[in-house]
Amino acid sequence: MPDLSIDFAGIKAPNPFWLASGPPTNSGYQVMKAFDAGWGGAVWKTLGVPIVNVSSRYGSINYRDTRMAGFNNIELITDRPLSDNLHEIEEVKKHFPNHAVIASLMVESRDEWEQIIRDVENAGADGIELNFGCPHGMCERGMGSAVGQEPVVLETIVGWVMEAAKVPVITKLTPNISHIVDPGLAAARGGSDAVSLINTIKSIMGIDLDTYAPYPIVDNKGTNGGYCGPAVKPIALEMVKELAQHPEIRHMPISGIGGIETWRDAVEFILLGASSLQICTAVMHYGFGIVREMKTGLLEFMEQKGYEKISDFVGLALPNVTEWKHLNLNYKVVAKIDQEKCIGCQLCYVACDDGAHQAIRVIGSTESRVPEIIEENCVGCNLCALVCPVEECITMEHRDQGIAPVTWDELAERGKIPTTFDDDLAGGKGHHVPRPEEAFKFRK
Ligand SMILES: Cc1cc2nc3c(=O)[nH]c(=O)nc-3n(C[C@H](O)[C@H](O)[C@H](O)COP(=O)(O)O)c2cc1C
Repeated sequence: MPDLSIDFAGIKAPNPFWLASGPPTNSGYQVMKAFDAGWGGAVWKTLGVPIVNVSSRYGSINYRDTRMAGFNNIELITDRPLSDNLHEIEEVKKHFPNHAVIASLMVESRDEWEQIIRDVENAGADGIELNFGCPHGMCERGMGSAVGQEPVVLETIVGWVMEAAKVPVITKLTPNISHIVDPGLAAARGGSDAVSLINTIKSIMGIDLDTYAPYPIVDNKGTNGGYCGPAVKPIALEMVKELAQHPEIRHMPISGIGGIETWRDAVEFILLGASSLQICTAVMHYGFGIVREMKTGLLEFMEQKGYEKISDFVGLALPNVTEWKHLNLNYKVVAKIDQEKCIGCQLCYVACDDGAHQAIRVIGSTESRVPEIIEENCVGCNLCALVCPVEECITMEHRDQGIAPVTWDELAERGKIPTTFDDDLAGGKGHHVPRPEEAFKFRK
């Protein structure tokens, strides 16, 4: 049986599934219930100077039948007294000495940092996470993402913390920045033991069309909040990859956060360099029980692939994530429609003709509504397969054209910047674009 236990920058946990700092880690009651359900660690709801929260706090994007495809909040750090939280951290550690309890912290001055670090260490926290990510409320007071967006300030505070802390320190980064490597490098320079990302993305969920106030509405007003949940996973994966590939950052373990809901999501984060995982929205949606399937799925995956421990496959996808200029320009795929599976909705035709490359035609007969691929026009963009509502009905087939692989970089080195009309490229002579007047053929 593979071993799920991890040692993340010195923080030990029975498995890599940790609750991210947020409502599920508000109290000792919740954290103990979560550990009982199988979670390996918990990052406590951020502790700091006392604050007051507003009523009406969350908003969500319900995409068609999917509730909470994206989620947002305008909640601040914990509004519970520090002493209660410290007491409960102590209680949790008494009952679960082998689980990871990480205290998320956000304060302002050096003295406050030193004091709160002492407090949580005395309470028995196994590690500290620095919340430099919150994009609402706290940043207006010079904390949260206001620090995460200023590498020099971030480095300075990490430096203070590293001098004061005896337990491992994780720096949590904000995605609200143009280049995630900048705060990543600042965390490394400050001496952080590890990084975690992503915190939430600055967002407005929508506007109420009667009151003209943004959601979530607080007495007819609203404010930007932090976006998270399944919709943000691609952004989080990309940022994790950026840090995991960087030569001056990759020595720090990465805790991957953002839209994780299933064991598959977890594996993707690990393959891109994460060695622990944090989950918030999925727990708020489905409860602590989701960890059971996540653990079972991860174990099965590891068994199938022959991995004994998590570290066996951390970052294994990284060599395959390259720059565009290194992609093979001579690789070609074309769409194929399975006649048996096609339900004749012709969505692929509409999408391709209006939104892409005019490589699908509908045949004028009334017997069949199954469209046909015009191979010579198909650039292999995948759009038809993506819009098709039937699983595996449209697939992309590789066409081996017997042409040697070539990249943009190689051609540029040879002084030959490629164009669509290069004969030695699989793109060949470019696809046929209909004449403008043909657009009017459906006019009555
Ligand atoms: C309601 C809510 C409150 C949150 N509070 C905190 C917090 O106090 N500290 C923190 O570092 N992150 C906080 N987060 C961010 C999460 O820890 C996490 O980084 C983010 O939600 C992305 O993960 P997810 O997609 O699994 O939710 C909060 C998120 C939500 C939804």
